[in-house]
Amino acid sequence: MSDGLEGVVAADTVLSEVDGQAGRLIIRGRSLEQLAGRVSFEEVARLLWEGFFDDLPDDLAPALGAARLEVFAEVSALDTGLLDRTPIEAMRALTARLADGDDLAVALRLTAAPAVFTAAVVRAQAGEAPVRPDPALGHAADTLRMLRGKLASPAEVAALDSYLVTVSDHGLNASTFAARVIASTRAGLTSAVLGGISALKGPLHGGAPGPIIDMLDAIGRPENARAWIEAALDRGDRLMGFGHRIYRVRDPRADAMKLAVRRLSQGSNVAPGRLAFAEAVEASVLAILKDRKPDRALDTNVEFYTALLLEALAYPPSAFTCVFASGRVVGWIAHAREQLAGGRLIRPQSRYVGPQPRIAA
Ligand code: ACO
Repeated sequence: MSDGLEGVVAADTVLSEVDGQAGRLIIRGRSLEQLAGRVSFEEVARLLWEGFFDDLPDDLAPALGAARLEVFAEVSALDTGLLDRTPIEAMRALTARLADGDDLAVALRLTAAPAVFTAAVVRAQAGEAPVRPDPALGHAADTLRMLRGKLASPAEVAALDSYLVTVSDHGLNASTFAARVIASTRAGLTSAVLGGISALKGPLHGGAPGPIIDMLDAIGRPENARAWIEAALDRGDRLMGFGHRIYRVRDPRADAMKLAVRRLSQGSNVAPGRLAFAEAVEASVLAILKDRKPDRALDTNVEFYTALLLEALAYPPSAFTCVFASGRVVGWIAHAREQLAGGRLIRPQSRYVGPQPRIAA
């Protein structure tokens, strides 16, 4: 048996390849470098969904804009009970109100949902009214507009687009596997996406970037880094934003995110010295992990600079995982459709290691 299913191949896919030795990500025949910062979120969604829906339009933007408007109706269900929950729990609850199904209309509504619901939840938790979607805008531009109530700058829109594209798909990660298992039962895309959101929210997967801001805040100054990191490791804590099941070298998405932060730091989004401070903390973590775990190849993963990017876009850390879901949702849907197209019910076995019934004397 493989601990944590490490090394087990559980699906053939045309969607993405994660090369953990070379530190390379391919999404439908294109390298991450050919996609991030070069194509829009709608374009990568179309690329991922190509061949999985018969009625896929050439340009997904108008249909996705219309879907944002459609799901906005569900925001009225955001009651005080939900507002006491974390943003991801509230966003997931609103998404659960959407009907199940397997067609393109369901896929578009599910893609619109995290963006629309996250903006509404974050605003409501700050005592502000939700902002109605503008279907004429691109998805990233409208996502930021719904969050802030005013248009974001082209640089900010480009940064969010780059993020959403970067995290759109990534092999058989935990949330995608969960979505594929659910899809294999033919439960429907909404069920698969809800499973994906639920797996993503854990701190070992998509819940990592929020605590990264806590770590940076707690360290405060580069000279405090070593003592703070050593104390965290002495307590047995894991350092968020480092390590990966597949990558044995640096996660290529970390550099895509760092580049997006660097581009944004030319404006006023990134506090002076913030990126240099994060780089100093990163260098300390890597040196200490190398020292303490010489047999493990632990490097920076996507989440470290994601945290800086989403902070620069003025998302509260409590909502970072929701933004991750806004990007990954198109990958979950593509995998669910791929699973439905060719896959059998996913049903592995367990080995019983408990006691046997006592035989009566
Ligand atoms: N900090 C400290 N120690 C670590 C870290 C870390 N970030 N990551 C791994 N280790 C240690 C473990 O404690 C373990 O040590 P041990 O064998 O002495 O107990 C060993 O390294 C396990 O290494 P791996 O087999 O490479 O880790 P695994 O594949 O089980 O876990 C995971 C991968 C969950 C991502 C892990 O590296 C981790 O917890 N990282 C922090 C959380 C994080 O950043 N998650 C986001 C991942 S990217 C994504 O999901 C989008």
